[in-house]
Amino acid sequence: MAFLENNVMIERISALKKERGAVILAHNYELAEVQDIADYTGDSLELSIRAAETQTKVILFCGVSFMAETAKVLSPDKTVLIPAPHAGCAMADMVDAAGLAALKAQHPGAMVVTYVNSTAEVKALSDICVTSANAEKIVSRIPADREIIFVPDMNLGRNIMNKTGRKMIFWQGFCPTHRRITNAEIERRKKEFPNALVLAHPECNPEIAPLVDEFLSTGGICKYVKQSDRKEFIIVTEIGILHRLQKENPDKVLIPGSAQAVCPWMKLIRLADVLNSLEKMEHQVELSPELIARAALPIRRMLEMSR
Ligand code: 13P
Ligand code: SF4
Repeated sequence: MAFLENNVMIERISALKKERGAVILAHNYELAEVQDIADYTGDSLELSIRAAETQTKVILFCGVSFMAETAKVLSPDKTVLIPAPHAGCAMADMVDAAGLAALKAQHPGAMVVTYVNSTAEVKALSDICVTSANAEKIVSRIPADREIIFVPDMNLGRNIMNKTGRKMIFWQGFCPTHRRITNAEIERRKKEFPNALVLAHPECNPEIAPLVDEFLSTGGICKYVKQSDRKEFIIVTEIGILHRLQKENPDKVLIPGSAQAVCPWMKLIRLADVLNSLEKMEHQVELSPELIARAALPIRRMLEMSR
């Protein structure tokens, strides 16, 4: 594509969006230029609800591939586009269907609770999905005598176990971006900003817990900062969220917990890719009807239980 100024691209995107009947959904970690042209920016749960409820014919998903897949599973009759088809999620790729099937065979009575950061094939073998926004609520409602397999994020799993007291069998997956965040960095920030509240994503290592005031999903962090009377916050998650936070709270001081927390896959989509995607109607998420039907069950169960 020839070089175009951002304002020209924004105008073209807006016109094409109307022409195609598209809604643009963007995750809170996306580049600022992408968040700014989205119709909705949110966390995994908020975006899946939008995808399930939207009336438009086309969903253009700016996020990583498991999120676009979830949108397709929830809206199979719609065209779901992802501008960067190789935007994977390192954690989602740490578990495959064969590995999960083998673990299930070792624990035949266990309930499989799967973080949405997983492929449709893995979801299809699961009993219920969770996101970081509802995992605590859902896990705490599972009968106490039922064994639980939690995949793939052992850090989210351990953080939930610390809150609910529920023992679980963990898959040893993790998010490399959140794993980079260290206690030493947070301690340094707390010394610099002693009045700041520390808000962290539960994909972080549970060892940071003594330094954290609240563990929240990215959407939860956005709501908390907006509603709080406090002025200073140390935000311990991927740094893309700071754009939205600063835009929504211009009078508050928002400090990144770690400058290392950058998800490379969330930075793959630029404005030019969004325009290209709408122009060419690519890249379409394709899943077999059989896989959609199986993966939809645990996702819909999650949406029911998060009401
Ligand atoms: P949220 O659902 O909290 O937005 O988290 C998604 C994610 O991938 C975090 O790394
Ligand atoms: Fe996956 Fe981590 Fe990136 Fe979230 S931040 S999309 S969990 S790699």
